[in-house]
Amino acid sequence: ALIVRHRMRSSGRWARAMAILTELEEKCGTPIGKLKQVGDAMTVEMHAGLASEGGSKLKMLISYVDNLPTGDEKGLFYALDLGGTNFRVLRVQLGGNDGRVVNQEFTEVSIPPHLMVGTSDALFDYIAAELAKFVATEGQGFHLSPGRQRELGFTFSFPVRQLTIASGTLIKWTKGFSIDDTVGQDVVAELTKAMERQGLDMRVAALVNDTIGTLAGGRYFNNDVIAAVILGTGTNAAYVERAHAIPKWHGLLPKSGEMVINMEWGNFRSSHLPVTEYDHALDVESLNPGEQIFEKIISGMYLGDIVRRVLCRMAEEAAFFGDTVPPKLRVPFILRSALDSLLKGMELEDLPICWVLFAVSQLIIMGYLGIASGMTPDMSAIHHDTTSDLRVVGNKLKDILGITNTSLKTRKVVVELCNIVATRGARLSAAGIFGILKKLGRDTVREGEKQRTVIAMDGGLFEHYTKFSECLESTLKELLGKEISESIVIEHSNDGSGIGAALLAASHSQYLDVESP
Ligand code: GLC
Repeated sequence: ALIVRHRMRSSGRWARAMAILTELEEKCGTPIGKLKQVGDAMTVEMHAGLASEGGSKLKMLISYVDNLPTGDEKGLFYALDLGGTNFRVLRVQLGGNDGRVVNQEFTEVSIPPHLMVGTSDALFDYIAAELAKFVATEGQGFHLSPGRQRELGFTFSFPVRQLTIASGTLIKWTKGFSIDDTVGQDVVAELTKAMERQGLDMRVAALVNDTIGTLAGGRYFNNDVIAAVILGTGTNAAYVERAHAIPKWHGLLPKSGEMVINMEWGNFRSSHLPVTEYDHALDVESLNPGEQIFEKIISGMYLGDIVRRVLCRMAEEAAFFGDTVPPKLRVPFILRSALDSLLKGMELEDLPICWVLFAVSQLIIMGYLGIASGMTPDMSAIHHDTTSDLRVVGNKLKDILGITNTSLKTRKVVVELCNIVATRGARLSAAGIFGILKKLGRDTVREGEKQRTVIAMDGGLFEHYTKFSECLESTLKELLGKEISESIVIEHSNDGSGIGAALLAASHSQYLDVESP
């Protein structure tokens, strides 16, 4: 009788766990009709954001890039790419004559987490110091014309209000950054001051978002590139707009008649978005509650944490991992925010010592960077496990969460959970792209026209989470229909944003008049 009772109990638990999963699946549903509504809402918000400043959740920021690279860019240029947990510095020797990168070198440096939540000076001093070190290693294969100052394209992947191509004030931080004294400041001035403090003689020639850099880099290699999408720690898109279609632009009409727009689509929201209680809880506990809602459903910083939240509920309400809830399941990626307060000067004595030890051990176990990406790389590994006994899933559960001896049945549920969360993100990204294509009138075949449309994509999520990118592509096809989808191409632009920033620095060089091609 005892055994029977135990069986009944465990089958009851299983049923409860399945009910949680089914409910999630329903709430995360993205049937094609809904995706079209999301795409339409995106188009509507694009119009509103272009009409007036503050007209929409979509900021539709004017980038001051009205000419994309042509291939004639020439000379030595640097780029600095700041926006995730790492930053990259790059130098390229551009050969001119139809697009030749003669030589390039880069280095990648991780940002100590306390600098992401410290002071503006500390962050920029650190960056400038690393940049100076890199410049000092400039050697053969790179050539700066005599008497010239080195010039830099600064990729700064946060929302910035620009007034010129080489200046702009930070509107707000996103992703894991939170440094109050930078908000409202000109980030180029901040960097320039820091470079001066380092004794580095360099001028910022262009300030660009990573989407803009990716678009420029993409265009350099392929003339049909008209938009760029980043799917990484955060998510965003940029595209080429007709200057006439930007009512809020009061400046001179650019000669090209075009202007590149940074949409900041991470901040998009709509009643059509399928959001769940888990998304809501994640948002409330994030560094920026109420903001970047689209980003929080889609991007690498958050996906893994959504999965964790569902697993946690299954453990609590359905004893999914046995009688106790594995403690690590309760640690949100946003442990960071608790850590922030710690680093922002809260006295250590104010915190229980066990908490501090626990926090530190978590950091070591997860690797700080793992937290920054919300465990999404682990989620990807789980989702791609092709072993018959789902060994990878088992090992991940053990290594990350300390959960041992999981059954095959349990592992399958975990994979399915990742599938539900990733599929929703991928399909919504496709809906966003569909919205842009609609805005540009490129979602239908126009008579007599054989126009190719290329979208340059980049970011760790897109690059490394294969099931995500495959789902995105197939969903976009589904949304567009067969005929037109043949002329619309998604292209991975590998670190296009670094090269793109260098190219834009070249086309906005102070020496342009001296050496015009
Ligand atoms: C965040 C930033 C945005 C950036 C994107 C991808 O959404 O606000 O500027 O482009 O992340 O890095």
